[in-house]
Amino acid sequence: MRLDAIIASMQTETIHNLQIPKIGFGTWTVGGRETPDPATDAQSLAALRSALELGYRHFDTAEVYAAGHAEELLGQAVREMGLAREKLFITSKVSPEHLRYADVLYSCEHSLRRLGVDYLDLYLIHWPMQGMQLEDTFRALNLLLREGRVRHLGVSNFNLELLKQAQALSAMPLLTNQVPYSLADRTYVENGVLAYCQQNDILLTAYSPVKRMDIASHTVLQEMARARALTPQQVAMAWLTQQPRVITIPKSTNPQHQAENLRAGDLRLSVAEIEQLA
Ligand SMILES: NC(=O)c1ccc[n+]([C@@H]2O[C@H](COP(=O)([O-])OP(=O)(O)OC[C@H]3O[C@@H](n4cnc5c(N)ncnc54)[C@H](OP(=O)(O)O)[C@@H]3O)[C@@H](O)[C@H]2O)c1
Repeated sequence: MRLDAIIASMQTETIHNLQIPKIGFGTWTVGGRETPDPATDAQSLAALRSALELGYRHFDTAEVYAAGHAEELLGQAVREMGLAREKLFITSKVSPEHLRYADVLYSCEHSLRRLGVDYLDLYLIHWPMQGMQLEDTFRALNLLLREGRVRHLGVSNFNLELLKQAQALSAMPLLTNQVPYSLADRTYVENGVLAYCQQNDILLTAYSPVKRMDIASHTVLQEMARARALTPQQVAMAWLTQQPRVITIPKSTNPQHQAENLRAGDLRLSVAEIEQLA
């Protein structure tokens, strides 16, 4: 299939007049882990370039990833591709230790600078923090919205109670709660967050969609994948993206895995297959 045909066929989720690719690209470990690791820059840039060439247009990053270096490398790869800014959907996140009013503004400004862009499509609170003053945080986030520095707001790792608090404070409907969700981790189904998101037009962005899966012992998944000439990871991701209001952001440095993951967003599992996986 030609590249432009692949991009045109990419499944998107339509919400609040936005079309967001259901399969995004995660950047945890791009450029390092807790600190920058310049020795891995070439490998990280190669992974980002191949993702962009394959047609990924939705990227997830955070100020904490490689202490900002993931944002720098993502910005570099995007500039090198010469893509128009509006073709991309870029998410970044403010860290829990930066949730005070002035710190949020400072963090956002530095994320924008490292990425080399003048707005973020989506800005998330990365993790809740004990004792945080969400009113103060949202005063800053709402100012960023008004100034056009961020287009949409969301949260990450928020339980139902915190999600409702954030929703009440946000000047715009929250776009997402980014949480761990996979065949192996259904915490946010069990705690009621997924159902609440689906009922309230909030995306649930599933992170770590394949990482913690013990694929070797998942015989149902393996057999299903084999029967359809897919990989177990593709079936696992299709299971996610087929659910209303669920999108996902797998990370891979392997171009073949990247392509497979992108295609997973186009797959349709049958009702019987979904029941078997449930
Ligand atoms: N908000 C939060 O608190 C939070 C927390 C964790 C993650 N995240 C975000 O979510 C993104 C994804 O989560 P993650 O990186 O934890 O986990 P993940 O994407 O589920 O797993 C990444 C691992 O799975 C492998 N993989 C990916 N696709 C594969 C495929 N098709 N076949 C075989 N192996 C495959 C990758 O190896 P290869 O490179 O070899 O393909 C890599 O080792 C992160 O990068 C980050 O952006 C957010």
